[in-house]
Amino acid sequence: MAALIAPSILSADFANLERDLGRIADADYAHVDVMDNHFVPNLTLGLPIFERLAKVSPVPLDAHLMIENPDRWAPAFAEAGAASVTFHAEAAQAPVRLARELRKLGSRAGVALRPATPVEPYLDLLAEIDMILVMTVEPGFGGQSFIEGTLPKIRRAREAVSESGLDVWIQVDGGVSRETIERAAEAGANVFVAGSAVYGAEDIPAEIATLRELASK
Ligand code: DX5
Ligand code: ZN
Repeated sequence: MAALIAPSILSADFANLERDLGRIADADYAHVDVMDNHFVPNLTLGLPIFERLAKVSPVPLDAHLMIENPDRWAPAFAEAGAASVTFHAEAAQAPVRLARELRKLGSRAGVALRPATPVEPYLDLLAEIDMILVMTVEPGFGGQSFIEGTLPKIRRAREAVSESGLDVWIQVDGGVSRETIERAAEAGANVFVAGSAVYGAEDIPAEIATLRELASK
């Protein structure tokens, strides 16, 4: 399966976001972590900055909304030009209605699961979404270590997607690096978010190429 690499700009220089988006021009997506200091204990950026990023980014934006009340806020990120908008299952009131709204606005729709959130309740709804994001760390911060116990959930999600015949992507986010990406790929992920591994590398394009190669084997 072709591996898609989505570096997270959470590990970029927030005073130089346009420059740092340019550094990942070889990637498939730029992953933008939106945190509201309520759903997670950290605060990053919101819609006004996201709108500007969408205008200057050389790669499509993959918005990861770690916010309360995504039903209210997520559509605006699609309207701002996000190629993909992922909201958290734990925060959404009406995930199917929200996914339909995002798709109608021309965005892909993703549902994110914290490490302790089971995937089973979503497996009957695969036709309504474009991606499942299996968080491989507790959301909120970059630079944490990959939780190996999430691998069976990735596997279950991949099995269900294969059985369904639908083209639903499985994304992993958190602690993804040269050391962990092969296990995530082997379990069935096809979209890989990496923040510190990419922006911490000496040669960013080479790191993206290496991660893509390791995940494509
Ligand atoms: C964490 C964010 C991630 C973060 C990953 O809550 O959702 O996207 O940037 O960072 P690394 O790759 O350093 O674990
Ligand atoms: Zn993220």
